[in-house]
Amino acid sequence: MLSQISRALLLLPIALRAGSALVTVCNNSPALCSRTYDNVTHLGAHDSPFVRDSSTHFSSSGNQYYNSTVQLAAGVRLLTAQVQTTNSTSTGQLHVCHTSCDLLDAGKLSGWLGEINTWLVANPNEVVTVLLVNGAGATASDLAAEYQEAGISDIVFKPNSTSATSVVSTTSSYAVSTPSTSSTSSAWPTLQSLISAGTRMVNFVDTLPDDSESLYLFLEFDHIFENSYENTSPSDFSCVPNRPSSVANDTDQTLSQGLMPFMNHFLYEQQAFGIQLPNDTYITTTNARSGGVGNLGSAASACSSVYGKAPTFVLVDFVNVGPAMDTVDRLNGITSPIGRTEVSSSILSATSGAVRANCQFAMLCLTLLAALVAFVEL
Ligand SMILES: *[C@@H]1O[C@H](CO)[C@@H](O)[C@H](O)[C@H]1NC(C)=O
Ligand SMILES: *[C@@H]1O[C@H](CO)[C@@H](O)[C@H](O)[C@H]1NC(C)=O
Ligand SMILES: *[C@@H]1O[C@H](CO)[C@@H](O)[C@H](O)[C@H]1NC(C)=O
Ligand SMILES: *[C@@H]1O[C@H](CO)[C@@H](O)[C@H](O)[C@H]1NC(C)=O
Ligand SMILES: *[C@@H]1O[C@H](CO)[C@@H](O)[C@H](O)[C@H]1NC(C)=O
Ligand SMILES: *[C@@H]1O[C@H](CO)[C@@H](O)[C@H](O)[C@H]1NC(C)=O
Repeated sequence: MLSQISRALLLLPIALRAGSALVTVCNNSPALCSRTYDNVTHLGAHDSPFVRDSSTHFSSSGNQYYNSTVQLAAGVRLLTAQVQTTNSTSTGQLHVCHTSCDLLDAGKLSGWLGEINTWLVANPNEVVTVLLVNGAGATASDLAAEYQEAGISDIVFKPNSTSATSVVSTTSSYAVSTPSTSSTSSAWPTLQSLISAGTRMVNFVDTLPDDSESLYLFLEFDHIFENSYENTSPSDFSCVPNRPSSVANDTDQTLSQGLMPFMNHFLYEQQAFGIQLPNDTYITTTNARSGGVGNLGSAASACSSVYGKAPTFVLVDFVNVGPAMDTVDRLNGITSPIGRTEVSSSILSATSGAVRANCQFAMLCLTLLAALVAFVEL
């Protein structure tokens, strides 16, 4: 009770400042408006739709404790997901699934994209990046159909290179200057120009079968380089470029090509049959701002020093833990974020979720709730 009151008091000056509405806020801070897209560090939720909570019976395949909407409200600005076909033996539907739709199926791709679109429409000063991992080998036009089904059109940021093939018809003209495939950092617009133009959803896909970018779906590795991601020990984390293979191990090349640094920072635990599950037993250290082998804060500082600038993207599992946002705020120089919805930084487990899981029995639920209220009042 006391901590709730003190938290409310802490939030009060922030609310007042935001309420005065004289200051323009981009991605939760006035300080980010004039910065170019690639000169902001975007916090990413790895496998964003794969949630480990009561809705998935705390699936060990889940990478996040809260859904994409809650992640966005808490300040996450990059969402990644694997796209798989529901049925490998036929042309199934495109779903967001962890490795296989038999393992964890978070529903249709269009449904998840629609969830993001809904949040974007409700939050007009925010720029959000989506990275699709194309496990289905879907074509650009297959993916475009999902965007269309989700009702997404004008809000996407459109690459503006002559080689771009139009797979989605659009009537809107290019409102902002945009990078070509050989983009240099100065080619990316500021957050403010993306917001003013209303093109606030930046979309990447890791691979496409025909290698042709659509009007708005960037080929990731034309614009981004990543460090390694298959780490199973906290001492494995490295800043060395791993993908694309053309620049692997060659930091100078990645930077001279203007590729944006993308820092993977999550741990797998290795299971039998090559199955990899997110490691949640070490997550408080993995996502910490400091302290312990493999903590996010130290790794981010190390990579910033190697690259000569902060990583543009930082991707973590269980993003609420740490909270990972602290490290990204530090990289962005943000001390008073505006307009975020706080989420617990705790690890969720079947035990902590037990009350909700049992609530399908209404009477039992009411009883539990009454007991809980009585307890809190004490
Ligand atoms: C943005 O630019 C500043 C000043 O050069 C630099 O310190 C910072 O690391 C950059 N951040 C990113 C994400 O590029
Ligand atoms: C996300 O989670 C919140 C909190 O549990 C819930 O209220 C909301 O309905 C969920 N949103 C979606 C789109 O699933
Ligand atoms: C996959 O598709 C095949 C051929 O259409 C069908 O026979 C099979 O039942 C499907 N499997 C699943 C799991 O839907
Ligand atoms: C990109 O858009 C600008 C402004 O509309 C236009 O002048 C330029 O020719 C376009 N560049 C390419 C490569 O299409
Ligand atoms: C997670 O990683 C830590 C650090 O390497 C390790 O001690 C722990 O056993 C791992 N957890 C699981 C469930 O494998
Ligand atoms: C990069 O370095 C690793 C480790 O030294 C090595 O295994 C890999 O073959 C190298 N890759 C390239 C493309 O040089």
